[in-house]
Amino acid sequence: MKIFLDTANLEEIKRGVEWGIVDGVTTNPTLISKEKAPFKERIKEICELVKGPVSAEVTALDWEGMVREAEELAKLDEHVVIKIPLTKDGVRAIKVLSEKGIKTNATLVFSPMQAVLAAKAGATYVSPFIGRVDDVSSDGLKMLEEIAVIFANYAFETEIIAASIRHPMHVVEAALMGVDIVTMPFAVLEKLFKHPLTDIGIERFMKDWEEYRKAIGEVK
Ligand code: E4P
Repeated sequence: MKIFLDTANLEEIKRGVEWGIVDGVTTNPTLISKEKAPFKERIKEICELVKGPVSAEVTALDWEGMVREAEELAKLDEHVVIKIPLTKDGVRAIKVLSEKGIKTNATLVFSPMQAVLAAKAGATYVSPFIGRVDDVSSDGLKMLEEIAVIFANYAFETEIIAASIRHPMHVVEAALMGVDIVTMPFAVLEKLFKHPLTDIGIERFMKDWEEYRKAIGEVK
């Protein structure tokens, strides 16, 4: 399972990369807007930190505009992946870009058939938004599972990125389904480390170690 960070914040990316467990980054216009940094510069800075796929999203809504923006963004770094919304124009742009060898990530995917359309157009990645489906009282994980089954049925090469992740159980369930990638906010990544028994265990080991050192006269 690959782990991507869903953020445009350089400090978060640096920390995740230092831990040695971050394989890529996804951004979107909302995440970029939180950073108040020039878009293309920020994408380049992210690419310098993480040697893996970095998704940058187009903002044009027509396919020709999407292709134009994508071609510019793709020049920034070899790791840039173009995020394209799953609309009719988006699917057309994905097809054109895939024929040009430009990697794409179909975003704002909320149903199995939207995912199939992205795969058929040649998307490199497809991003089903789990949390946002849950938000409207539907079942995001069920959607993800259906996509995973359909992609396996037809051996689609498009990789699935479980997106809009809100908590560690989303990550666990996606991993159990064998989903290729999970992209998560830094706060969720941090939570994956935590277990109270680890903290209690360290505390007990440290206490016993100090007592042992006193007992053998290493410290007073
Ligand atoms: C995916 O690539 C998106 O950037 C992201 O996961 C959206 O998540 P949200 O629903 O928490 O905004």
